[in-house]
Amino acid sequence: MENLKKRTEELRRQINDHNKAYYVDNNPSISDREFDALMRELEDIENAHPELDDPLSPTHRVGSDLTKGFDQVVHVRPMLSLSNTYSIEEVDEWAARCNEALGRKGGFDSVPVVGEMKFDGTSISLTYKNGRLVRAVTRGDGEKGDDVTENVKTIRSIPLVLAPGSWPESFEIRGEIVLPWKEFDRINAERAFNEEPLFANPRNAAAGTLKMQNPAIVASRGLDAYFYYLLADELPSENHYDNMMAAKEWGFKVSGAMTLLHSVSAVDDFIKMWDTERRTLPVATDGLVFKVNDLRQQLNLGFTAKSPRWAIAYKFPAERALTPLRFVSFEVGRMGIVTPVANLEPVLLSGTIVKRASLHNEDIMRSLDIHDGDNLYVEKGGEIIPKITGVDEGARKPGAKPIEFVTHCPACGTALTRIPGEAAWQCPDKYGCPPQIIGRLEHFVGRHMMDIDGIGEENCAMLYNAGLVKDIADFYNLKPEQLESLDRLGKRSAERIMKGIEASKSVPFDRVLYALSIPFVGETLSRKIARQVRGLDRLMELTPEQLTALEDVGPKIAESIVEFFAYEPNRAIIERLKAAGVQTSLPEEEPGETSDRLAGKTIVISGVFAKHSREEYKEMIEKNGGKNSGSISKKTSFVLAGDNMGPAKLEKAKSLGVAILNEDEFLAMLEGEGE
Ligand code: IVH
Repeated sequence: MENLKKRTEELRRQINDHNKAYYVDNNPSISDREFDALMRELEDIENAHPELDDPLSPTHRVGSDLTKGFDQVVHVRPMLSLSNTYSIEEVDEWAARCNEALGRKGGFDSVPVVGEMKFDGTSISLTYKNGRLVRAVTRGDGEKGDDVTENVKTIRSIPLVLAPGSWPESFEIRGEIVLPWKEFDRINAERAFNEEPLFANPRNAAAGTLKMQNPAIVASRGLDAYFYYLLADELPSENHYDNMMAAKEWGFKVSGAMTLLHSVSAVDDFIKMWDTERRTLPVATDGLVFKVNDLRQQLNLGFTAKSPRWAIAYKFPAERALTPLRFVSFEVGRMGIVTPVANLEPVLLSGTIVKRASLHNEDIMRSLDIHDGDNLYVEKGGEIIPKITGVDEGARKPGAKPIEFVTHCPACGTALTRIPGEAAWQCPDKYGCPPQIIGRLEHFVGRHMMDIDGIGEENCAMLYNAGLVKDIADFYNLKPEQLESLDRLGKRSAERIMKGIEASKSVPFDRVLYALSIPFVGETLSRKIARQVRGLDRLMELTPEQLTALEDVGPKIAESIVEFFAYEPNRAIIERLKAAGVQTSLPEEEPGETSDRLAGKTIVISGVFAKHSREEYKEMIEKNGGKNSGSISKKTSFVLAGDNMGPAKLEKAKSLGVAILNEDEFLAMLEGEGE
């Protein structure tokens, strides 16, 4: 008994930790299957030993995604979860249970079931009144969720106003917000480029995006939504399937996979088909859902505390392979962080060959306890990035040694230092370690930085290794002949690169600042610093106190900036960049200077912009005497519209006859053109 109690406490602690990793940090620490197994074990113990139960046990709630910064709304009907299984037999048993409970002895064939996709995103509840979207709320803890209406409105496939139809005056519709694979790949490619942590899967990316405070960024992310549950006092039909078809008519996206199934064998066939066919879908799915179709039968079956008895989720098994470890490599990034990578005997997993998988850091590598020559389990579930989930310890060769994390930089031999409070080890030789130097060269030429056409990752390494470019200022000394003499470059590439380098001299100062690779000074911060400080000369002279007085600059960043400019070779590089004609300050007269050009005007900003950030436009409006407002009314003078302006705003502006200006027109107006 004492042991059982200990196990119960251990399970609760683990589940709570995993819940936080999943719901709060958007960074799952174990696979869904492993998590489900823990939950099930705990439920079994609690059911068998009610005396061990605890009202605060994680089995008594659905995980929470509540975050600060959004208003909380209580769900009129609580949002429950689904009981789930990984076995076809258990789905069949569930069907038999439904039959039995409904007093149908004639077999499952008498209770029609709807088979549908289990979309792997983040659930949402929408409320419509009189055909208009009034509120969008996340699941939260099931009882109350976050009001994310403004963000949801940016999702193009969600109808804001319904076409005339037979919809109930007031209803709720639930569905899943998803990030299509295509968008997911695009966003991750961009994040990889910026050395930002990648989203592990579209679910995390969708959930993270929905919780962003800036609807304009949400709008740029390409979210989508599928709906699967209609709730109202008076529904159009007495069965789930027809209700969903009605919702489809009203303009909601309902998956074409939704199918009415009349027999157990049809359910089994549905599972077998979608187990492979799902790979052709544009969005991630992690299983199927089966629901009793008839609403009266649903009512009779009812709910447990957590989930409806009339539905069950079948989860697709995560694909897993066992493959021998060849070796662990230790790779050095631009910031000197050393990452352990498992190099594997190539193995086929979910249609792609896996050869490498990151072990992330020393702590994660240690917890896996990998030894030389081990066989490793690689998994690709909802995750597209392969993950090492364990070791086949039984197959370990006698005498095999545990893999140790390196103590010295594998590239330059310098002793590594551990970043205080973090799991990462770093090579401190910032300016002498080749992969760090090459990493900075690659960053410098990148699209968001100097955007030098013709030079990519491979060319940076080649130019460095040939001794032609040893630091970022060397790009500006390159001669076409030198480039042409390199093996892989012809005359045409050389010309293109020379042109690219020339063009980079007009890249504005904020991007030059970002291109310098000052630790912690990212894209957004560079823009803010540039706007406040206006030039490198001034920035280089600022004391830590003056730096921390700037917007968004804390002591850690201030220290990093001071340290960067204190290093003499960096100052020399900056002098050479300046001499080459690179922009090291913002131009004197910016359309940001004060005037009364917009006096008396009320302006609404909507959408995503290319030339300036929303914040900058707000500031420009204020500096020129205008007023910035959040919603369109008769008083609005004009809307400053970027890409992806919300359709509701567009419609409203049109109906009130409010003018819509794009950013070029607006900037021209500030310049005094076209008056
Ligand atoms: S029905 C009362 N149908 O899975 C039951 N849920 O584990 C309401 N999900 O919170 C849910 N696809 O976020 C239902 N076709 C589908 C679904 C689906 C994905 C999600 C949903 C729910 C979770 C339950």
